[in-house]
Amino acid sequence: MISTKPLRFPKNFTWGVATAAPQIEGAAFEDGKGESVWDRFSRIPGKVLNGDTLDVANDHYHRYPQDFALMRKLGIKNYRLSLAWPRIYPNGDGEVNPAGIKFYNKLIDSCLKHGITPWVTIFHWDLPQALEDRGGWTSRVTVDAFATYAETVVKALGDRVKNWITLNEIRCFTVQGYSPGCDKAPGRRESAQVVNQTYHHALLCHGHAVKAVRTFGGKGARVGLTDNSAFSVPVTETPADIAAARAWYIDQNAHILEPIYTGRYSAAYLKRTGKDRPVVQKGDLELIGQPTDFLGLNIYTGQFIRAGKGKVRYEELALPADYPRTTCWWLNIMPQAIYWGARFPAEVYGAKAIYITENGCGYDVEPVVNDEVQDLHRRDYVRNYLRELHRAIADGVPVKGYFLWSFMDNFEWQDGYTRRFGIVHVDYKTQKRTPKLSAKWYSTVMAENRIV
Ligand code: NOJ
Repeated sequence: MISTKPLRFPKNFTWGVATAAPQIEGAAFEDGKGESVWDRFSRIPGKVLNGDTLDVANDHYHRYPQDFALMRKLGIKNYRLSLAWPRIYPNGDGEVNPAGIKFYNKLIDSCLKHGITPWVTIFHWDLPQALEDRGGWTSRVTVDAFATYAETVVKALGDRVKNWITLNEIRCFTVQGYSPGCDKAPGRRESAQVVNQTYHHALLCHGHAVKAVRTFGGKGARVGLTDNSAFSVPVTETPADIAAARAWYIDQNAHILEPIYTGRYSAAYLKRTGKDRPVVQKGDLELIGQPTDFLGLNIYTGQFIRAGKGKVRYEELALPADYPRTTCWWLNIMPQAIYWGARFPAEVYGAKAIYITENGCGYDVEPVVNDEVQDLHRRDYVRNYLRELHRAIADGVPVKGYFLWSFMDNFEWQDGYTRRFGIVHVDYKTQKRTPKLSAKWYSTVMAENRIV
């Protein structure tokens, strides 16, 4: 007899949703919050689609109780959120803004009251503009300021927050903010050496945050980085293509995962960067290489790789014009990316606990008709990625959780409010929230701990 085998996830698998402060909070200049680099950048004509700003966003700053109530209604038990550094230190360092601490105390209390476990990202791209004015990520001033900020937030919230993420996607606020041709805040054009230095400074901040959690996080506190590694997918699942994809993965992630997991920059990385390598001070690599409790990965897409010929170890395959993608130019639909993206760090770096801290898709046209949004495209996208994640777990990859990006439509950086990633639709004129079909489907997945 033919039967359908349910694709169940392990007991205690963590299911959740994710957002980030600058993308949803709004209240950009309320209660003493300082300006962030994205507040500044979004005001430069031409930088953000339609000139959208973060000023109001989803007004979550005022509506969080209703948003948590909706999460509870959907059966969401874990919520990844971020703290806005300029809300807590309007100038980046110096005086703490008590209203900022008060807000996050209330937010965390409300989250817990709704039966939802918070997973807190300390930094999700909103650098205080005052620090950018003093050099931003090119300067160690930012590292020192971050160390104080991390300590402050862990001390303030650590009695209730037990899951900490140090930084979100280092590449997106370093190379994508400081390289020629980049499209993210602050939009500077720096040399290769300076850009490598920005990574190094971000890694130091990661180290400071780990230290803050270890020192002040209290019992049961856990900490890890969220990385958007470059993810490879072998064109065929044969030993030669898999080895090639693994070699590419190691080369591409040498500057971030290598120092975090081994406490050193690899010889190959140092050779490759030559005179552009980052300047490293005594003690830096020990700080960066402290053990963490998990690796967070934001996995959306990947790069197809096959074995090269002769001495060439691997070959990158360009995607044909008709390859399926979302409305985001960068988001090619490639479910296998989540399989290999989770498997390689376990194999290469020995990552013991992996959380998919983001996965999802963005589209522009998602109309509400009769109070419904039929986003079957998103439902299918997530379902196909979950099948590959399930395969990874079945193959022994230690994946412990999955957070869908995003709980609701929000400010998608340079794409403004045009691109929608939420499983809950947001009408920005009225701030009305409407759970999409994907939200209802995901509720069942979470409740039944299996793909439905
Ligand atoms: C990665 C980022 O962490 C998040 O802020 C962004 O909105 C999503 N990916 C979608 O692009």
